[in-house]
Amino acid sequence: MMSLNLDLDKILIIDFGSQFTQLIIRRIREFGVFSDLVSHKKIKSSDIDNNIKGIILSGGPLNVYQLNKKIFDKKILSLGIPILGICFGHQILSKFSGGKVKNSQHREFGYAKIHKKNNSLLIKNFFKKKNFNKVWMSHADQVTKLPKSFKVIASTNNSKFAIVENKYKNFFGVQFHPEVTHTENGKKIIKNFIFSICKMKKNWLPKNQKFQLIQEIKERVGKNKVICTLSGGVDSSVVAQLLNKAIGKNLYCIFVNTGLLRKNEEKQVIDTFKKKLKINLIYINAENKFINKLKNISNPETKRKIIGNLFIKIFESYAKKIRDVKFLAQGTLYPDLIESKSVTGSQTAKIKSHHNVGGLPKKMKLKLIEPLKFLFKDEVRKLGLELNLDKDIISRHPFPGPGLAIRMPGLITKEKIAILKDADHYFIQALKKHNLYHKIWQAYAALLPVKTVGVMGDNRTYEYLCLLRAITSEDGMTADFFEFKKSFIQEISNKIVNSIKGINRVVYDITSKPPSTIELE
Ligand code: XMP
Repeated sequence: MMSLNLDLDKILIIDFGSQFTQLIIRRIREFGVFSDLVSHKKIKSSDIDNNIKGIILSGGPLNVYQLNKKIFDKKILSLGIPILGICFGHQILSKFSGGKVKNSQHREFGYAKIHKKNNSLLIKNFFKKKNFNKVWMSHADQVTKLPKSFKVIASTNNSKFAIVENKYKNFFGVQFHPEVTHTENGKKIIKNFIFSICKMKKNWLPKNQKFQLIQEIKERVGKNKVICTLSGGVDSSVVAQLLNKAIGKNLYCIFVNTGLLRKNEEKQVIDTFKKKLKINLIYINAENKFINKLKNISNPETKRKIIGNLFIKIFESYAKKIRDVKFLAQGTLYPDLIESKSVTGSQTAKIKSHHNVGGLPKKMKLKLIEPLKFLFKDEVRKLGLELNLDKDIISRHPFPGPGLAIRMPGLITKEKIAILKDADHYFIQALKKHNLYHKIWQAYAALLPVKTVGVMGDNRTYEYLCLLRAITSEDGMTADFFEFKKSFIQEISNKIVNSIKGINRVVYDITSKPPSTIELE
């Protein structure tokens, strides 16, 4: 089964492929309780240990009446652990407890009005005074006969058994989705299940995570050495600081300056990690190597590959000099882990080859250490604050591995990099000055390989075109452009054109993703 090696009490989600499974985990964690996921195909009753204080059966695209017996290990239902079934999870719980499920003529998709019929611990503070609520449904099948000892708690017009319970076994089923925000007071159902029914205590707060993770690293690593690449981004910074607190001088951080970083970034990384946090930092200035390798290259994928490969080569040559290293630390996050384990996960077309420190030195036979593999991005940020990292680092916009190279379509030259660094710097400074930086998910300047004519004073200019991009997004998968006021756009355009020799025109990118991507290459 999946990675249940964190020694904490938890609510286990058994995933049947619902698009909302991540949301259930997030809701539980927002209450400060640890929750993890496992695929219905992998879990066996013998995997259920004492840490599991409650189980949630997720929704999913399957049909209860078409299931083969292997869909789910039925013995899990006789372990005496409280269970909440959501949508398909509710149907399978009813079916396996002796009830009936059928395809219904009354499919419910979207809002439904739910009426209270009986009291239950599960619905404490869920219904408002009038004993009805709006809930969000997404199902074609429904429970048509309740199993023995189950009671109806609430119904909609089309689903008689919209909330049900078996008080003796602590089994609960809801046909709607309490985890989505469209369900009024949906969080109350989750809260009641985890605290009133499963009796969980809060154990997933940044402070606990910090102690827990540091302890685990200490136990796993012992007196061995760990290497870690530092990029200056949030994830690698938090990984480095966690390891620093856990093993101190046995951590070796390698920071490669590709020359394609944001303005002054290398100085910031050295100041923060070497000087302030006293982390063992190996700084490698490889600007010239990267520029030379990228000479005459304008194809985006070739650029990405050259940068990725050279990065690995440099990293390896320095890592080899540190003797007896056993571990490589990586900033893998929870969504990376569950996406690859998802029961519905499908292959997506390759849009761009991402450069990540990820699967780096396979040849070096290092063991991986991934301290953030249980955390979502916002949890990583909170943990970073708990570890005393600067807010500036923690709340920084994402920055791609290949850096400014992919924000400069066409050829890469030292002159163009210098111009772009300044333009980007002025843009970000202006966003901060106007309190816009944190309203935007990612913003940057790019330099287009076009020169246009302008006039400054009485002189003709013939200089580059600067493109500004600022987007709002949840996770970088989809994005919309940010709507600036005219005064801001005007101010930043003036600042860039007036201050940077080499740019005489500024444009603002107003495409969303899709159809565009966030980066230009
Ligand atoms: P795109 O351009 O694909 O970008 O819409 C989505 C998000 O991913 C970042 N990005 C990268 N991050 N290595 C990274 O670590 C890469 O090679 C890479 N390429 C794009 C991009 O900045 C945006 O946040």
